[in-house]
Amino acid sequence: MLLRILFGASLLVISSVSMGSEDTREWVKLPEKMQEHMLASMRNHLETINKILMQLSAGEMDEAADTAEQNLGMSSLDDHGAEHLATFMPEAMRVTGTSMHRAASRFALRAQEGEVLPAYAAVQEITAACVACHAAYRIR
Ligand code: HEC
Repeated sequence: MLLRILFGASLLVISSVSMGSEDTREWVKLPEKMQEHMLASMRNHLETINKILMQLSAGEMDEAADTAEQNLGMSSLDDHGAEHLATFMPEAMRVTGTSMHRAASRFALRAQEGEVLPAYAAVQEITAACVACHAAYRIR
């Protein structure tokens, strides 16, 4: 327990140091309308992750699977105008975006299998893509 607290505290120190350092994210320039569109879709992503966690913790596995597939999974791509937006992104950013959508679809399959712990692990594969992209890119 103590080790965990120490480990957590050291992570906090590391992350506050890195926050103070220079911003090394690549600036991806988007037309203003696209920016607004992308940020709105990002807020929706966060809401979706929150809803997935809520449904998982209530044991609503099938519902969590639907939430993920419809809002973040491969099925969500048409709604987001993702293809158009993707043409403005550097290749590596596009790849990270695709890996997020794939992870969400994989989560949906995992959740349908009904095992809670593997489902949580699969959520983390989604959030890992959020973290990777945010660490590397900015649009403003
Ligand atoms: C392909 C890259 C990419 C992925 C994947 C990604 N984001 Fe983002 N997100 C961005 C960028 C770039 C910004 C804008 C950062 C900036 O310039 O301030 C952003 C901004 C946001 C914002 C701020 C929105 C606002 O109105 O200011 C939220 C919230 C967010 N992302 C949540 C998420 C969540 C949750 C996920 C994963 C489910 C995710 N994002 C996945 C690239 C990504």
